[in-house]
Amino acid sequence: MYNEDHIQESVRNDMKTRGSFITFEGIDGSGKSTQLSGIANYLEKQGKEVLKLREPGGTSIGEQIRAILLSRGNMAMSIETELMLFAAARAQLVREVIEPALANGVWVLCDRFMDSTTAYQGYGRQIDLQLIGRLNAIAVGRCKPDLTLLFDLSVEAASTRLAARSDKSDRLDLESKAFAERTRNGYHELAKAEPNRFRVIDAERSVEDIEQQIENILREGTGI
Ligand SMILES: Nc1ncnc2c1ncn2[C@@H]1O[C@H](COP(=O)(O)OP(=O)(O)OP(=O)(O)O)[C@@H](O)[C@H]1O
Ligand SMILES: [Mg+2]
Repeated sequence: MYNEDHIQESVRNDMKTRGSFITFEGIDGSGKSTQLSGIANYLEKQGKEVLKLREPGGTSIGEQIRAILLSRGNMAMSIETELMLFAAARAQLVREVIEPALANGVWVLCDRFMDSTTAYQGYGRQIDLQLIGRLNAIAVGRCKPDLTLLFDLSVEAASTRLAARSDKSDRLDLESKAFAERTRNGYHELAKAEPNRFRVIDAERSVEDIEQQIENILREGTGI
């Protein structure tokens, strides 16, 4: 039964402004996770509701897929298997979490998304880019990021930072320098192809400088 309150509530929901979807991309150690938490705090201070996500994962099914992808027991994984597991985790995350949150006015910040697949599996592992484009399209549907921040850092600087970070390396951390160079170059190509969606951040700079730069980008784009 609908009463007056239910109708009012559903009208309010229909009129809710859609949230913004921001993704954080870049090679390993480029500072994505560091900046994601800083920017989440900034947005919360501005009164926004914020959801922080990481890929692969973010759902129960996605976290199970994440464990398969990262396990050092799975060194035999083919690159095609890896590609489809990433896409599967993403498809679940979009439908179960990201779309409903955006519809509810929540700002969604995601540590890696579809561009990671193009950069790592496409440019890094050299799987056909058109194929990856189609798979990404199946996984995300119309849910493309409104803004993608690309943290651009030399492979050398990134590996120095990672050496200082204490966590144990997983299967995906054991890649060669050449692989990381191809991946970084792939990100550059993506940013060139979609200049309206991407903002390239000079990730050599200090944590505070970068955060300031991102806040400026957000103010420019959305007036917050
Ligand atoms: N601007 C910066 N200057 C110096 N060090 C930084 C900067 N940003 C992050 N770091 C440090 O570099 C390391 C890597 O940063 P972070 O974990 O945020 O990178 P990431 O892109 O999330 O890496 P991964 O892809 O492996 O998750 C961390 O130890 C972090 O404290
Ligand atoms: Mg990280």
